[in-house]
Parts: sequence; structure tokens; C-alpha cells
Amino acid sequence: MDKRPIGVFDSGLGGLSAVKAMLKYLPNEDIVYFGDTGRVPYGTRSEKTIELYAKEDIAFLEKFGCKLIMAACGTVSSVAKNAIADVKEPFVEVVTPASKAAVKATRNNKIGVMGTSATINSGSYVKAIKALNPEIAVSGVSCPMLVSLVENDWIDSDDKIAVEIIKRYIAPLIENEVDTIILGCTHFPHLAPIISKVAGDNVTLIDTGYEAVMEAKAILKKNELLNDPSHNGEASYYISDKTQNFSDIAHTLLGMDISDRANFVDLNNFKPV
Ligand code: DGL
Repeated sequence: MDKRPIGVFDSGLGGLSAVKAMLKYLPNEDIVYFGDTGRVPYGTRSEKTIELYAKEDIAFLEKFGCKLIMAACGTVSSVAKNAIADVKEPFVEVVTPASKAAVKATRNNKIGVMGTSATINSGSYVKAIKALNPEIAVSGVSCPMLVSLVENDWIDSDDKIAVEIIKRYIAPLIENEVDTIILGCTHFPHLAPIISKVAGDNVTLIDTGYEAVMEAKAILKKNELLNDPSHNGEASYYISDKTQNFSDIAHTLLGMDISDRANFVDLNNFKPV
């Protein structure tokens, strides 16, 4: 049994999709979440900047003595290879587990990937899927505006603007007849009802946050790192900028109020108590 917390980070609030799954499927675990709300989005930035931000985010979580660190961020998982390679703790990224799930789910061997520009340009999902099955055709679309929709809480399934943006983004995937779409950015599962409505019932959506949590659970179990089953896991939240509507958005994304557990941090001057 291991009482140390799990550290989860993202460029902003999108990674709360992984936290939501973690609260459900790893209920005995303590979680420290870091959302880099002061520097979101990452997906339109250069590789050098994404590497640097990822290194700082990981260093912040390491201060809590985490037993496992998760990059609940498709962009970091796809681009920040050096930052990831340096992590000493067990580490989970989102590309590999989501690709495995998509390869399992596809019936016609046509998979679509929605991601940030950095993620799609990196070709990370194409490489991961082709390594599992070279016969599968993979089409990717960069959907940078979807990150802003989520960070601004425009995620209601009746939101006409969100529906139109998503229609335009996924038209090439529908044209390529994909039967499975990887929501390759952790912000996108929050838009899943709209994406599903636009893509149709026959298309399976893969939630990167959920798949990463399943991977984390398997690693913790295998290495006997799970917490005491009688412990009620607690989550604490850290953000690098207390944006005006942070609490409301976090409430919508997680389905609970976390304003009393959310702390503003200056990444460079922080010591956990
Ligand atoms: N949620 C992140 C991802 O999975 C990042 C979005 C962004 O910051 O551009 O890619």
C-alpha cells in the first residue's frame, strides 16, 4: 500500500477529464492536479516551449513526492519527449493508451484523430497506431479552437456555435469514413456529446483521459502501489492563474465545486506544506 499522491497535469482545465475518471476508478487515491491556466494553450506553441513548460509542470508535481505522474495532455504527450524521458517516477501519457483503445475499437480499420496543432503535426497518434497495426488508415485534424470553447465553458450540446465549429473540423474525418475518433486532446472529452451528435452513432469516441487512467490503474496494481482500500481519496488543485471564471468552468467539467480546494501557485516559488 502506498499513500503517496498521484500527480496529474495539463495546460489548463482539460485534464480534469482525467481527474473525473480517476475519482471514479481510483477512489482511494489522493490526487494533486496542476492546470497551467496562466499559459494555456500549449498546442499552438513551439516544441521548445512545450518541452520547457512540461519540465516545469513535472518538477512542480515532483515536489509532492508523487508515486505516479500523468501528463493529462495530448500536446505534452506528443511533443515533450525529452521532458517525459527524464521523469524518474512511473509516468503515464495519453497517446499510447488511447491508440491501443482505438485499434481495439475500430471495425473498418479507419481511425480519426482530433488534436491540437502541435499534436497533429507531431504525427504521434499515427506512429502509435501504425506500430500496433500498419494496415489501419489514420486521418488527423487540428482543432485548436476547441480548447478555447472548453476553457470558456461553451460546451453545451445546444450551443450552435460549438456545433458549427465541430462540424467544420470533423468533416474530413467523416469523408474518410472513420468509425473511431480519438479525442486526442484532454479538453475534447468535455465536448463529446456534441462531437458524437455531429459524427453519428456509428462512430466510437475514445476518451484519452479515461484510457490514461486505466493505464495508471494497471501500473499501480502491478507495482503494488495502490493506496489503502479503506482510504477516501482526496484531490487538491493548483492553477498558475486564477482566471475569472475558473470555479464555474471547473464545476461544469468535474460536476462539483472545487473552489475551496483550488490554490493559485507561482511555479518558481512554491514549497508544499
Ligand atoms: N489539453 C491539452 C491537450 O491534451 C492541451 C490543449 C492546449 O493547451 O492547447 O492537448
